[in-house]
Amino acid sequence: MQVTIKIFRYNPEQDKKPHYETYKLEADPTDRVLDLLERVKGYFDGTLSFRRSCAHGMCGSDAMRINGHNRLACKVLVQDLKTTKIIVEPILGLRVIKDLIVDMEPFFANYRSVMPYLVNNEPEPKKERLQSVEDRERFDDTTKCILCACCTTSCPSFWASEQYAGPAAMVAAHRFIFDSRDQAAAERLSILNDQFGVYRCHTIFNCTEACPREIQITKAIGELKRAIATGRLD
Ligand code: SF4
Ligand code: F3S
Ligand code: FES
Repeated sequence: MQVTIKIFRYNPEQDKKPHYETYKLEADPTDRVLDLLERVKGYFDGTLSFRRSCAHGMCGSDAMRINGHNRLACKVLVQDLKTTKIIVEPILGLRVIKDLIVDMEPFFANYRSVMPYLVNNEPEPKKERLQSVEDRERFDDTTKCILCACCTTSCPSFWASEQYAGPAAMVAAHRFIFDSRDQAAAERLSILNDQFGVYRCHTIFNCTEACPREIQITKAIGELKRAIATGRLD
């Protein structure tokens, strides 16, 4: 089949403003959008810039807007799009460095701000810190995050202000706050009890729709809101 792929292009060192380039390609229905981008780069224009690494939905590096939705280019097949016209753009809310590559630093700064690591000041046990199956299950969903930023950069509250912690940072906070081995839940909840924390989430659900790991992000944020309001982690 033949597809048309229209790609956002911007090289701030040469271009006054962004523009789009359109390419016509032969494609199989089972080709991934990432395959098409590789084909454009390999055969049409070697200057096309985008991030990718694993090509299997695990590293989170190739988040982009595909026909208006935040997706991983390596997880979207041509046949999934139900059209032969494909538009690829950078994720929104972060500065474009070149073409489809954005500056991820504000995203990772928000991630770091919620202490995304286990805190336990008790002496280390001889083997490991044990946990019941039920306690592990409590935060299982939020362990699946691959930090792709599809969620945060689809959230209108983040578009309005990159100071907003955003859904990915709150997923990371949830993963540790509800871990029975961790001792810094109160500190993390206090960080998120802020105008740029949970109160910026207006339950828009774009984040949940965009997550390639199908994490129930809006539900997790709701649990953080409840923990802040009640002071309880049940
Ligand atoms: Fe990506 Fe989902 Fe993690 Fe957000 S929660 S960064 S969409 S994997
Ligand atoms: Fe944004 Fe998701 Fe809340 S899209 S407003 S973080 S439910
Ligand atoms: Fe790693 Fe797509 S290239 S998730």
